[in-house]
Amino acid sequence: MNIAVIGTGYVGLVTAAGLAEFGHKVVGTDKDFEKISKVSQGIVPIYEPGLDELIMSNLKKGNLVFSTDLDKTIAEADIIFVCVGTPQRDDGSADMSQIEEVSRQIARNLNRYKLVVEKSTVPVKTSFWIKRTISLHKKTDQEFDVASNPEFLREGSAVSDFLNPDRIIVGVETQRARDILCGIYAKFRERLLVTNIDTAELIKHASNSFLAMKISYINLISNICEKTDANVEQVAEGMGLDPRIGGRFLKAGIGYGGSCFPKDIKALARIGEELGVDMSLLKEADRINAERVRIFVDKIKQALWILKDKQIAVLGLAFKPETDDIREAPSIRVIRSLLQEGARLRLCDPQASDNMKQLYPEEPDRLRYCASPYDAAEKANAMVILTEWDDFAKLDLKRIKEAMANPIIVDGRNVFSPEAVKKLGFEYYSIGRK
Ligand code: UGA
Repeated sequence: MNIAVIGTGYVGLVTAAGLAEFGHKVVGTDKDFEKISKVSQGIVPIYEPGLDELIMSNLKKGNLVFSTDLDKTIAEADIIFVCVGTPQRDDGSADMSQIEEVSRQIARNLNRYKLVVEKSTVPVKTSFWIKRTISLHKKTDQEFDVASNPEFLREGSAVSDFLNPDRIIVGVETQRARDILCGIYAKFRERLLVTNIDTAELIKHASNSFLAMKISYINLISNICEKTDANVEQVAEGMGLDPRIGGRFLKAGIGYGGSCFPKDIKALARIGEELGVDMSLLKEADRINAERVRIFVDKIKQALWILKDKQIAVLGLAFKPETDDIREAPSIRVIRSLLQEGARLRLCDPQASDNMKQLYPEEPDRLRYCASPYDAAEKANAMVILTEWDDFAKLDLKRIKEAMANPIIVDGRNVFSPEAVKKLGFEYYSIGRK
């Protein structure tokens, strides 16, 4: 069967390359001509470990091609994975216009039976609208099915998440769609859960919102730890020993970011409210997250008092390690607050500096991008950590101390052990522990 993947963002690129790796014939398509022309030559526009190699090897094998001819790609496909963006609108709901546009394009090219699979994160009931749109616009009486197969990959480990998933959720309403999707994922039969479409759509939003809530919960607990002698890492460890809770996703810090959690928790809150359900639990988790940056900037002020004209080394810009993605990264708001207070910043990130430069270009004496943490630390009055890159945990702190004007670290991700840094003579502030 011929597979088309529409949209070549994070999800689309990994889906296209991953399905090709499973041995299927895949055409990836996008309306962004430049992106397609680059990726056709194996030049991947995002930093994602292992993705370049996966795309390159499948391009070479001939399992994967990229095309800008959307009509032809749809016409020749039996299965169409829809991976276009569903960005957030001002009211918190998801903007579904790209999904609608793709549905109309599919309708125009419905020359034989096709299975349309939603892979992007979409609100529950989206399949109803896709079906309605295709039915309204199709020019033939050819049949089609819509199914939901939400993607659970995490940026930074997207390739291994796709090739070795914990679970595959398939939401279908016909046996034909069920057979096709179960066939595609045959090698993961034991990890496959088949549901109806509304359920599959909701599993994705409910999972992301639950994980976001878990992070806000431990961040709330970290606030209590800071006012007592409790240590949030040990609290999390102790909680996590209960298998009903589990120890993962209990790292306190400056809050969750990225293109998914902040958007999905708001979108689910919005959907629930539209359906007449009280969603204050999720709204509160989102509010707690929004507070994290203010709490962190207060910590920096606690260390430096007046920020005006203070030189601050900022380590970590990406919303999490192993990615160059800065979408909704807490670093954006931390930088904005520090600049508003008149601080002078020296920023450093192993992958995300170019993306941050689009938002905050270099400014003499006010904002500089540095090639290494040691360079960033030069004459700094304090160093702040915003992303827990491995490279930062391995820093030669003696060298950092020598470079800094004042040996002060404000660590938003608990990268260092308090005892170790204090022993080296640093004044050290972190999250939920002393
Ligand atoms: C998230 C989900 O984990 C994926 O399962 C899902 O497929 C994806 O969204 C999506 O909807 O596409 P991702 O946004 O790549 O993946 O990143 P995560 O690793 O989940 O981290 C999200 C944020 O939470 C990051 O800012 C991270 O720093 C923060 N976080 C995570 C914490 O603050 N504490 C933790 O314990 C874990």
